[in-house]
Amino acid sequence: MAEAHEARLTAAGNEMSASFLAAKKRSDETLAKLEENPGKFTMLTGDRPTGRLHLGHFFGSIKERVAMQNRGVNTNIIIADYQVITDRDTTEHIDDNVLNLVIDYMAAGIDPERTMIFTHSAIPAENQLMLPFLSLVTEAELHRNPTVKSEMESSGHALTGLLLTYPVHQACDILFCKANVVPIGKDNLPHVEITRTIARRFNERYAKKNPIFPEPAAILSDAPEIPGLDGRKMSKSYGNSIMLGATAEETAKLIKKSPTDSDRNITFDPENRPQVAALLTTAGLVTGRDPAEIAEEIGNGGGGALKAYVTESVNEFLAPHRERREELAKDMDTIRDILHDGNRRANAIANETLDQVREAMGMRYDR
Ligand code: TRP
Repeated sequence: MAEAHEARLTAAGNEMSASFLAAKKRSDETLAKLEENPGKFTMLTGDRPTGRLHLGHFFGSIKERVAMQNRGVNTNIIIADYQVITDRDTTEHIDDNVLNLVIDYMAAGIDPERTMIFTHSAIPAENQLMLPFLSLVTEAELHRNPTVKSEMESSGHALTGLLLTYPVHQACDILFCKANVVPIGKDNLPHVEITRTIARRFNERYAKKNPIFPEPAAILSDAPEIPGLDGRKMSKSYGNSIMLGATAEETAKLIKKSPTDSDRNITFDPENRPQVAALLTTAGLVTGRDPAEIAEEIGNGGGGALKAYVTESVNEFLAPHRERREELAKDMDTIRDILHDGNRRANAIANETLDQVREAMGMRYDR
């Protein structure tokens, strides 16, 4: 465990190390409490609708959301459509992406009766929280966010106002429904940190006697990061991702053309053979087996045998998910209705929170 922390720390850079350790500790403690009393917790997390979900999303976050829902946590998923335009200048295919997220969530076990699914753009009161929240942070704090910095660099564009301030918008996502647990990857940790700061400052400044907002805990999963088929991070833009909604044939093709090396003897050696290791890790995750054991079994079978095993195990694992999503996709009206209902429920909650905020700020002149 300590070693895993160290590795992540190095990756995240020194400036984050102390806060990462504190966040990981809080995450573990919160999870322990959550197991005892799930009904006391409200979870919010979400996705940007920039494409379809892949196996990395499934093991990295979707599985955990379903588990929380089934344990009886009050679960909420935001489809963060306004976050799409933080670093790109088109909303092409956004409708298709949003609806397919809903389909994948449901195929994976999210029950829209128990989990509220909604989008930024349909919840005006949630967005309005942005105004008081922006007054609680300084420009310097916004510029210090390491995730925003790296997103700006990789976008190749000038820093837009939205890219600079979207972590505050993410605080609106989390706080409008008073979530106290936020499962995320470590790149989103700075956003949960600023959310905690905003909640604390708002309460201190305007709601000392009756605090309105909780200071939410980030939930950092222990699941290993799933490598893409080429050994790099699994990312749609690298073309190395196994999409949940791909066909078995597409998946076979993708795995077939993934790079390996010339050593026929298959071993699990992430350090020196990252591409072979990525395939073994993938097979390990979908079968629940130890990747080293799979390697041993394949032995001198070479890349061909390895790929055959990965293809078969991935397609077998995803077959029921794919069947369910195909079934769901036959009735898009129902998918739209589910989103409509989630948005309706989110609006009711957001309106109530905004009323409390206006009340605390002495801004309810019209009553
Ligand atoms: N930033 C998250 C991502 O890119 C998505 C997101 C939007 C989110 N709002 C959120 C995550 C609120 C957790 C809580 O993956």
